[in-house]
Amino acid sequence: MQNKLKEIREKAISQIENAANLEALNEVRNVVLGKKGELTAVLRGMKDVAAEDRPKVGQWVNEARDAIETKLEAQLKKLEKEALKLRYEAEKIDVTMPEVVAEPGSLHPITLVKNELVDIFGSMGFEVFEGTEIETDYYNFTALNTPDDHPARDMQDTFYLSPEFLLRTQTSAGQIHVMEAKKPPIKVISPGKVFRSDDDATHSPMFSQMEGLVVDKGISLCDLKGMLDEFVKKIFGKETKTRLRPSYFPFTEPSVEVDVSCFQCGGCGCKLCKGTGWIEVLGAGVVNNKVLEGCGIDTNEYSGFAFGIGIERIAMLKYGINNIKMLFESDMRVLKQLHE
Ligand code: DAH
Repeated sequence: MQNKLKEIREKAISQIENAANLEALNEVRNVVLGKKGELTAVLRGMKDVAAEDRPKVGQWVNEARDAIETKLEAQLKKLEKEALKLRYEAEKIDVTMPEVVAEPGSLHPITLVKNELVDIFGSMGFEVFEGTEIETDYYNFTALNTPDDHPARDMQDTFYLSPEFLLRTQTSAGQIHVMEAKKPPIKVISPGKVFRSDDDATHSPMFSQMEGLVVDKGISLCDLKGMLDEFVKKIFGKETKTRLRPSYFPFTEPSVEVDVSCFQCGGCGCKLCKGTGWIEVLGAGVVNNKVLEGCGIDTNEYSGFAFGIGIERIAMLKYGINNIKMLFESDMRVLKQLHE
C-alpha cells in the first residue's frame, strides 16, 4: 500500500510539473484529486483495510495528498507568474513610437456661414424660426401670392411628393407659419434646406437659404435698405455698399435684387464681379399686402419687409469657390483650405 501511494504521488507530481498552463493544471487537479482520482479510490477502499492498519494508511494517504496539494499550489503560482509576464509582454508600449495624431473635426463652411448669419441677425434682435423641409403647396406657393396658375411658379422647378405636399423650394414658406402663429411686431429669420430640380455649376438640387421677415407699424423699403447696409458691412467688410435693383417676386411689392459693391476689387471691376464692380447677393422687398392679409394682418396698421439669402452663394463668394458642388463633395483637400 505504501508503494502504491508513493506511485500515485509521483505520477501526480510529474503530471503537475508537465502542466504547461493554468487550464492544463486545473485539469490535472480534477484528475488527481477528483472523485474519479486514484487517491479517492484508495480512500474509498479504507473500509477493507484492517482496523489496526487504518491509522497508518490514513496517515500515508494524508501525506500523499498534502504533497500533491503543495505541488499544485507551487505550480499554480509559477504558471500565474508566467501568464502575467506574457500579458505584460503583450501589452508593452513602445514610448518611442511616433504618436497617432487625431485630426480635429471642424464645422462645414456652409454651417460656418449659416452660424455667422444667425449671429449677425441675432445681434439685430431677430428670432430664429426653423420650418420643415416637407411643405404643403399652400405654404410654399399659394399663401405667398403664387396661386396654381401663377406664372411665377415656373421660376422654381418643384419636387412634388403629391398634389398637396412638396419639398419646399424656398424658406419663404416660413413667413406664413410665423405670421399665422404670431401677431406683429415680428422680426424673424428662418434658415434651412430648400430643394429645386436644378443642377449646374452654380445650382444644386439641394441648397440652403435664410429667410428674413420684419412686420411692424410703419415699416418701409428704407428700413430694409438700412438693415441691409449694416448686414453687408458685417459679413463682407466695413467698406461694402449696397445697391437695390428692381425685380419681381410674387410675395413682395416692390421687389428688389440686392447687389453689394465687390469686396475683392472695391468696385473697380474684377473677375469676381465680372467687371461690373457689383455682386448680386439676395432678393428682398416690401411684403405684398395680399400676403399679410392672407395671414390676418391688418395692412392699414402694419407693413413689412422680407429678404431671402442663398447661403451657398454667400459661402462661394466668401471663399472664392466657382462650383457649388465643391461644397457638397466632402473632399477634405478642398474643405481644409476653406478654414481660415
Ligand atoms: N424666395 C426667393 C427665392 O427663393 C428669395 C426671396 C426673394 C425671398 C425676395 C424673400 C424676398 O423673402 O422678399 O428665390
